[in-house]
Amino acid sequence: MKSLYKVALSKSFSWDAARHINAIIGGVRGSGKSFFALGALAQLASFPRFDKSKLLGIGTVPTQIFAVDLKNSDIARLSELLPSDRVAIDKEEAINVVTHFDGLMHQRLKKIRNYPFGATASSLHMPLYYLIIDEWSATNAALMSGTTKTDKDLRYRWQALIQDISMLGRAAGFGLIVISQQISVTNSGISSAVQEEAGLKLHFGDAEMASYRLTFGTEVQIPNVQLDVGEAFSWIEGITSSGYVIPFAAPYIDTANMWDILIQALANQDDNYYLDYQLR
Ligand SMILES: Nc1ncnc2c1ncn2[C@@H]1O[C@H](COP(=O)(O)OP(=O)(O)OP(=O)(O)O)[C@@H](O)[C@H]1O
Ligand SMILES: [Mg+2]
Repeated sequence: MKSLYKVALSKSFSWDAARHINAIIGGVRGSGKSFFALGALAQLASFPRFDKSKLLGIGTVPTQIFAVDLKNSDIARLSELLPSDRVAIDKEEAINVVTHFDGLMHQRLKKIRNYPFGATASSLHMPLYYLIIDEWSATNAALMSGTTKTDKDLRYRWQALIQDISMLGRAAGFGLIVISQQISVTNSGISSAVQEEAGLKLHFGDAEMASYRLTFGTEVQIPNVQLDVGEAFSWIEGITSSGYVIPFAAPYIDTANMWDILIQALANQDDNYYLDYQLR
């Protein structure tokens, strides 16, 4: 059976979101990170997508979308299209959304344990659940600041939840998409758990070689190609672990149609219904 979980990164290659469950997206301001995420989200939410000429799939295994966007920008507007308690724009809401997401993940894991050893959400053809955190650095900084008891409590919960999801998400089909201008381990505050479990890394836009190196490490080769807005280098676990990162251009997003596309893509969103749903 063809993978139910493929997101086209460009016309010629794709990301299997069930296999590479956590993704990190970097790049300077205005490089196309959020636009790429919106396009990817439309594909995720309408899985499976067998007809490559169409952005949207048939939607029988729709990924359930959750988002944290403390900048309250493009991604936050998804709250108009998603069930309540799915989108956070301040730090208390962020904790609530992530707690809710983590809780659903544990319910899903419990259900999966009823199946034979080795079963996973993807082997059972279950829909994925994805949490998109736009502007990770700002989000993390907001959650790391403050010295009251409540602040410390929120901080502890935030770190524990992100750690839990990044480690247990694959079997459950619960993924993270972390977007940040700076995605190196040392500068971004992205915990090493998230870094290590990320099967897909993208770096958008033009940058100094040193900056790409921070994202991808020193083992991979960076081709001498100048990237524009909406273009990125990609690293996919097991595919580019040695050798060259692959440059690609994200699909063009026409802002005039994007909202209508998202309305269609997000037609099948329900916290509980999809938790034990299986495509048979
Ligand atoms: N795939 C695309 N198709 C069409 N236009 C794009 C695309 N990617 C980026 N753009 C253009 O570039 C602008 C900046 O893109 P985007 O908001 O995604 O950047 P960003 O990396 O998220 O920036 P920031 O760090 O400020 O959030 C968009 O408003 C849009 O005009
Ligand atoms: Mg953005």
